[in-house]
Amino acid sequence: MKYLIDSMDLSVEEIDDLIDLAQDIIKDKSRYQDVCRHKILATLFFEPSTRTRLSFESAMLSLGGKVLGFSNANSSSATKGESVTDTIWTVSCYSDIIAMRHPKEGAPLVALKRSKVPLINAGDGGHNHPTQTLTDLLTIKREKGRLDNLTIGFCGDLKFGRTVHSLLKALSRYPHMKFIFISPRELRIPEYLKQDLLDAKNLDYREVEKVEDVIEELDIIYMTRVQKERFFNEQDYIRLKDTYILDKKKIEKSKKDLIILHPLPRVNEIATELDDDPRAKYFDQVQNGRYVRMALIMTMLGLENEVDRHED
Ligand code: NCD
Repeated sequence: MKYLIDSMDLSVEEIDDLIDLAQDIIKDKSRYQDVCRHKILATLFFEPSTRTRLSFESAMLSLGGKVLGFSNANSSSATKGESVTDTIWTVSCYSDIIAMRHPKEGAPLVALKRSKVPLINAGDGGHNHPTQTLTDLLTIKREKGRLDNLTIGFCGDLKFGRTVHSLLKALSRYPHMKFIFISPRELRIPEYLKQDLLDAKNLDYREVEKVEDVIEELDIIYMTRVQKERFFNEQDYIRLKDTYILDKKKIEKSKKDLIILHPLPRVNEIATELDDDPRAKYFDQVQNGRYVRMALIMTMLGLENEVDRHED
């Protein structure tokens, strides 16, 4: 696997293999602690991040590898006008694998042309975020035991939220899925996803505006932050930012085994009174992100068979 730019770059089999490997890692982390010895991961973040960058670094360190990189475009030669392609070309001379985040949609795809090492998209604008998708899939698999036959409600900023776009694409390939999109009119799922994905594959979906109207049906509710940085107009952001605040009352009628997911950071979308509720799984997602990135780094470096996974 030489790159991961879009969640659709992974076949269903590859996703299943990564999830299996992550689950083996969870069972016995110590067996994996030297797999990436002498390997270097570069994390190039042209856009802010807490979880994604640190979980990549934590994953590589947990595999015995080393990390380098920058967490702010201002401290890189991007400020001197260097192209993203030249930056990646350069960094691929210093590292064995690169994870990059960029505010522009498509930047990782452009950079890929000159990367001499495997390249991972850690989020590009409002487009895609495949490693968050792997995190979400691992969490769903661990909580529900399956990735098919589920009703999932995506709630919040479905227009700009790249984690939604990415996860939706991945889940669209599993059978018997039902998607319910909960958003204000202005933040609906983009037309291209409706036409090219949902309608083209004849998937079961509908759009609503209120959580309370659909909560009883859901196996999963995937909350998202209104993506302030992608708005053209601050007034619109202020008007829309608190449209959804999930609290005990709003999920009163949910199934007992509903799970609440959120890629985080949360601003106001989930009241903290839910944090200790057994349905809240957003910090389990954080934990899973580390393990699935360990599985991904190993696989992209061709080291997925280094540990004999069936030995007792
Ligand atoms: C998300 C992102 O960066 O797209 N965060 C993450 O990577 N866990 C979601 C967000 O910023 O709202």
